[in-house]
Amino acid sequence: MEKQFKILAIESSCDETAAAVVVNGREVLSNIISSQIDIHKKFGGVVPEVASRKHIEAVSAVVQEALDVANIAFKDIDAVAVTYGPGLVGALLVGLQYAKALAYSLKVPLIGVNHIEGHISANFIQYKELEPPFVTLVVSGGHTFIVHMKDYGSFEVMGQTRDDAAGEAYDKVARAIGLGYPGGPKIDKLSKEGNENAVKFPRANFHEESLDFSFSGIKSAVLNHLNKLEMKGEDYNKADIAASFQKSVVDVLVDNAIKACKIKGVDKIAIAGGVAANSYLRNAMMKRGDKEGIKVLFPELVLCTDNAAMIGSAAYFEYLRGRISDLTLNAAPNLKLGER
Ligand code: KG4
Ligand code: ZN
Repeated sequence: MEKQFKILAIESSCDETAAAVVVNGREVLSNIISSQIDIHKKFGGVVPEVASRKHIEAVSAVVQEALDVANIAFKDIDAVAVTYGPGLVGALLVGLQYAKALAYSLKVPLIGVNHIEGHISANFIQYKELEPPFVTLVVSGGHTFIVHMKDYGSFEVMGQTRDDAAGEAYDKVARAIGLGYPGGPKIDKLSKEGNENAVKFPRANFHEESLDFSFSGIKSAVLNHLNKLEMKGEDYNKADIAASFQKSVVDVLVDNAIKACKIKGVDKIAIAGGVAANSYLRNAMMKRGDKEGIKVLFPELVLCTDNAAMIGSAAYFEYLRGRISDLTLNAAPNLKLGER
C-alpha cells in the first residue's frame, strides 16, 4: 500500500484562519475554516491589523480542531505546510510563525506554499485522477490569472488582470449598489432576479492576441452609470445592474479561458479561487466548454474560497519535488505565481 503521508496545513493570508489534514495531496481528513467576515463586514472590507489579531486568537484552536476531526495527534503528522504569500503580511506571519514552531518541535519538514498555487491545487482534491498539463483560470479577491500548468509546480502565466482582480470588482460594485461585504456572493444571488442585458457595460479591448483583463474599466462604467441616474433623480433596479455587470465580467473570463485552451491545444480547464464559486461563471464556462469540446473542472464551493486543504494538497506535490523550506522562511506578501 502507498505510504499515507499526512500533512497538517495552515492558511492565514487574508481573513480566514484555516487548518486541514490532507493525505497524499488528494484526500482531506479535515478542513477547518474560522472566518472573520462578520468582523470585517462593519468596515466594508478586510482591515489588515484586525485580521492579524484575530488569526492570533484563532490559530491554536483551529489547528487542534483539524487534528480532532481527522482523529489524529500531533505525533502522527509527517510535515507541516503553510501559506507564506501572497497576502497580508501581518496575517501571513501568524500562520507562518505557528507552522515554523510546530515543524521545529515535531522535527518534521516545513513546506511553504504559494497561496495562488494552493487555489489551483484544490482541483487535485476534487478530481482524484487529474494530472497536468491543463489550463487554469484563477479568479479570486486579489488575483486573476490564466495559467498553463505544464507540470506540478510549473506554471506559465498566459494572461492576467492589468488592474483590479475579478473578485475585487465584484466587491466594489456590490458596495456601490449597497449590498455590503463580501460582494461576490451577494451579486451572484441578486443577479438571478435581474436582466443581464439591461445595461451594456463596455469591456476593455487589448491587442487581439492578449489574454489580459481589465476590470477597473467595467467597475468605473457601473459607477458612472449609477452617478448619471442619481443626478437625474432616476431610480434603478439593483438586480439589473448586478446581472449586467456580472455578464460583462464573466463573458471576458470565459472568452479568454477558452482561447488559452485552444492556444495550448489542451482539452481541460480547471477553475480556481473565490470567484470560481460564482454560479453564473460556472454555468457559462460549462456551456462554452461543452460547445468547444473542453472539459471544465470546478472544485466544490468550500474548496474555491480560502481554505487550508488546498494548501495541504499543493504542499504534497512540492514535497515530492524536494521543495522543503527551512526555518528562515519569511512572509512574501507579493509572491508571484511559480516564484520560489
Ligand atoms: O479566494 P478567495 O476566498 O480569497 C482571495 O484569495 O482573494 O476569494 C475571495 C473573493 C471575494 O472577492 C469574493 O467576493 C469572491 O471571491 N467570491 C465570489 C463568490 N464567492 C466568493 N464572487 C462571485 N460569486 C461568488 N459566489
Ligand atoms: Zn484566496
